[in-house]
Amino acid sequence: MHKFLFIGLTISMFVALLLIQVSCTQEVENKTLSQEEMIALGKYIVSTGGCDDCHTPKIFTENGPVFDTTRHLSGFPGGELPSLDMDMIGHNKWIATEKHLGAWVGPWGISYAANLTPDTATGLGIVTEEMFIKSLREGILKGMMRPLLPPMPWQVYGMKTDQDLKAIYAYLRTIKPIYNEVPQPVPPDKMGEVFAGK
Ligand code: HEC
Repeated sequence: MHKFLFIGLTISMFVALLLIQVSCTQEVENKTLSQEEMIALGKYIVSTGGCDDCHTPKIFTENGPVFDTTRHLSGFPGGELPSLDMDMIGHNKWIATEKHLGAWVGPWGISYAANLTPDTATGLGIVTEEMFIKSLREGILKGMMRPLLPPMPWQVYGMKTDQDLKAIYAYLRTIKPIYNEVPQPVPPDKMGEVFAGK
């Protein structure tokens, strides 16, 4: 009899501990962050999430490319694309990128990494938080224009929590606005013209 009582008590203590643990974890996740904390979280996610790889132009040093912090997240910096043999691009063939990882050539045509700074004319200035979240959740430019092209990994970032996406948006509002007009994407049937004669 005592033995059963002891086992019963042990089990209920274990369940109680588990409940305390669950409620504590939920408390942390649901904690409302201040605007400052949201910006810090967004900065952490962006800095560790690889966004700079494609969206920040590079400086070329002896040890290879490094991020050009004066042009942080301002997108493909422009300039002529180097020559490319179109026979090498396509399904089951190669995908190509230029030295800043800002322009990408593949079966989808040519895509250019967007300007993520809050510049109104060329960046995300006019994009609201709602439009921004929709762009990453559903893969739509500015949340309302056209499907986002590869290699923007929106399918991966779209899995983040609402809080994470809001934090990324909050942080991107605070970075330096940079005027940089990124070219429109080039459809596959027009790619040849871009590289013709190079
Ligand atoms: C592998 C390259 C790559 C990485 C890494 C990447 N992006 Fe992109 N991103 C792109 C390209 C290319 C486009 C433009 C796609 C197009 O024009 O359809 C883009 C477009 C976007 C857009 C749409 C801009 C608009 O005007 O609506 C947003 C927002 C965005 N990226 C945010 C991010 C964030 C935030 C990260 C990091 C968490 C990130 N990207 C990482 C390549 C990348």
